[in-house]
Amino acid sequence: MKFYQKKDQNMTYAKIISTGSYLPSKILSNHDLEKMVDTSEEWIITRTGIKERRILADNESSCDMAYNAAIDAIKNANISTSEIDVIIVATVSADMIFPSNACLLQNRLGIKNIPAFDINAACSGFLYALEMANAYIKSNIADTILIVGADAVSHYVNYKDRDTCVLFGDGAGAVILKRDNAPGIIITEMHADGSGVEFLHAKAKIKNGEIVGDPYIHMEGRAVFKTAVKSLSDVANSLLTKSSYTKEQITWLIPHQANIRIIEATANHLNLPMDKVIVTLDKHGNTSAASIPLALDYAVKVGKVKTGDLLLLEGFGAGFTWGGCLVKY
Ligand code: UT7
Repeated sequence: MKFYQKKDQNMTYAKIISTGSYLPSKILSNHDLEKMVDTSEEWIITRTGIKERRILADNESSCDMAYNAAIDAIKNANISTSEIDVIIVATVSADMIFPSNACLLQNRLGIKNIPAFDINAACSGFLYALEMANAYIKSNIADTILIVGADAVSHYVNYKDRDTCVLFGDGAGAVILKRDNAPGIIITEMHADGSGVEFLHAKAKIKNGEIVGDPYIHMEGRAVFKTAVKSLSDVANSLLTKSSYTKEQITWLIPHQANIRIIEATANHLNLPMDKVIVTLDKHGNTSAASIPLALDYAVKVGKVKTGDLLLLEGFGAGFTWGGCLVKY
């Protein structure tokens, strides 16, 4: 771990210097789902905006996806793995009970003797990781940080439950953050309300070698929907007020990709036209902690997000957890 002494800490920013992603090759389409449960292409598209999602192969794991996304981000940053000071993986679907996916990833990357840990904040996990990485860099604990959001959500999906099985997909997205004097992460704000557990959970645990409780995702969609729209609007207001930026200054809204109607409601609240919103859920579904970095990586690679753009990232998930982050890209 490197330590830095700087006279003016206010001039230190955590800047996203690269992005990366990985999606499994297997596509699960709405027509495939029509053959599995009582649903329709029309219902899924009008109620969620999702057209297809990716499902990992039998011999693939969330750490495999994290590794591929991390390699992509490292290559795009043009850095060596030896420059990385901390690895944070946001996931709810680590390969093992322990050690963490971050430690497995560290080993796969051949990096020794740096901190590596997972964050479990469900769909908000990537934003929680960004906040933590920002604090590490601002407090001179680290210089260069790898964050990966990776989730094998399909492991927890009951493909007989039409309420949930149409929503989720697998994937991984990554960023490299580096200390910079020019603005990067401007402000972050995270929240949690544990009373949300009844509305969105996968309650199983392992006890005495047995799975105890229901291992599948249960969601009361309508309640989650309403809370998500309100929480995301509130956090956007708060970030703008505290940072003194205006809605008009936002170049791109990059939201968690759960439901197009939640995204449209959030954009509407900000008076942002949908052509200023990055939408990838039609192709990926809801990939939990991977959703925001996957959307960011897509937007960078197709040339939508450019250096100097002001990005509002925000997300909501199980816990409940939610948060947002204003970033100068
Ligand atoms: O990432 C974590 C955060 N997650 C979210 O933010 C997700 C939030 N929730 C949602 O996105 C939406 O609530 C859902 C997409 C899950 C559901 O949409 P909805 O418009 O809230 O539908 P609903 O739950 O109110 O159900 C409406 C109807 C029901 O039938 P009845 O009772 O009106 O006859 C459901 O049984 O749609 C039915 N339904 C379906 N029909 C066809 C529910 N799932 C399906 C389905 N196909 N897959």
